[in-house]
Amino acid sequence: MKKTVAVFFGGRSTEHDISIITAISSVMKPLAMANLYNVVPVYITKEGRWVSGNELKDVRLFSSGNIDAFVKKSKPLQVSFDGGLTINKQRIDVAFPAMHGSYGEDGSLMGLLRMAGIPFVGADMDASVIAMDKVLAKQVAQASAIPTSKFLFTSRDAVTDSLKAETKRMGVGLKFPLFVKPAHLGSSIGITRVIDADELASALEVAAHYDTKIIVEEAVNNLIEVTVPMMGNKIIQPALVERPLATADDFFDFENKYIRGGGKKTGGKHTGSQGYSELPAKIPAALETASLKVAADIYKAFGLQGTARVDLLIDSKTKKVYFNEVNPLPGSLYAHNWRAAGISTVTLVNDLIQLAEQRHAEQKALATSFSSSFLRQF
Ligand SMILES: Nc1ncnc2c1ncn2[C@@H]1O[C@H](COP(=O)(O)OP(=O)(O)OP(=O)(O)O)[C@@H](O)[C@H]1O
Ligand SMILES: [Mg+2]
Repeated sequence: MKKTVAVFFGGRSTEHDISIITAISSVMKPLAMANLYNVVPVYITKEGRWVSGNELKDVRLFSSGNIDAFVKKSKPLQVSFDGGLTINKQRIDVAFPAMHGSYGEDGSLMGLLRMAGIPFVGADMDASVIAMDKVLAKQVAQASAIPTSKFLFTSRDAVTDSLKAETKRMGVGLKFPLFVKPAHLGSSIGITRVIDADELASALEVAAHYDTKIIVEEAVNNLIEVTVPMMGNKIIQPALVERPLATADDFFDFENKYIRGGGKKTGGKHTGSQGYSELPAKIPAALETASLKVAADIYKAFGLQGTARVDLLIDSKTKKVYFNEVNPLPGSLYAHNWRAAGISTVTLVNDLIQLAEQRHAEQKALATSFSSSFLRQF
């Protein structure tokens, strides 16, 4: 019998639109091609309305703008937590989150699916929470002796109340140039590279506009950026080390990455969700080995499962590899890279569903209840 897979996408995140493409091209299409699953799309609008329907499997519903009318005429999703999860009368066997950023990739959806008690693809709640908080992520990396650029963090309140003191503290504790980032956002939103205290002060104000927690970190010099998609629960395997083509001065911003299709450098290079890139990265073998090691160390330290993409910053002079960030649900699942590594997107989604089921079976085997006489006294 076919398994029923609910695919969650959209959501209240800046990466809403990217999530639609991930869900349709990299999850629902290959799931249909595998011929093993009934696919139930669950689309969450930017306003937080949840709807379902087979029409949501077609990108033209979104590109034509007809999605608004579709949502209007759709009945709100009927969800039952009935010792599992039933959506619009369809019992769900496995959930496949295809959401990026806040309220999707950050552990929120994973928490809901844990409560429902069904297997779900990708990182669990705790690893997602760590991954999507740039401060927590670096703290965990540090605690696991994984190199990361030197950083300090602050809060919106501290920036509002004592901007001067905070600017000074950062300026004394860290060496310019610095990167100032909202702790929870992605797509380079609210990120500034600064070279002196004046710039730092305004960058802190910008970041405080987007987030309550702000990280300030030293820039990695002589930068080579690479990213490594990984897959697995206990046994993990990397895809290919990939090098997005941009420099520290021209670092990826939202438009570069998603709208202009990868920035200024064109010329036959691959365009993925990370823009133009070199695949596999043409870097010395020693750096490739070091990158794969840092990626695997991060995956284990964070307790990631299913898949994730680990982003690294390399100082090409000192040959040091630093952890930058990890995406527990990379755009398009980074399917282009897996394909180049010899794993088709159909195999990828199949494997991810198997990994989800394996983890679920293991969790179920853990004792979660015990009988007590506590209530008898009342
Ligand atoms: N410490 C650093 N040293 C040098 N370059 C950096 C540093 N931190 C960030 N960058 C540059 O800024 C870019 C964006 O930073 P980061 O990846 O942390 O932000 P993001 O918004 O989460 O990511 P993305 O744009 O990848 O979604 C990096 O890809 C890199 O080019
Ligand atoms: Mg990044």
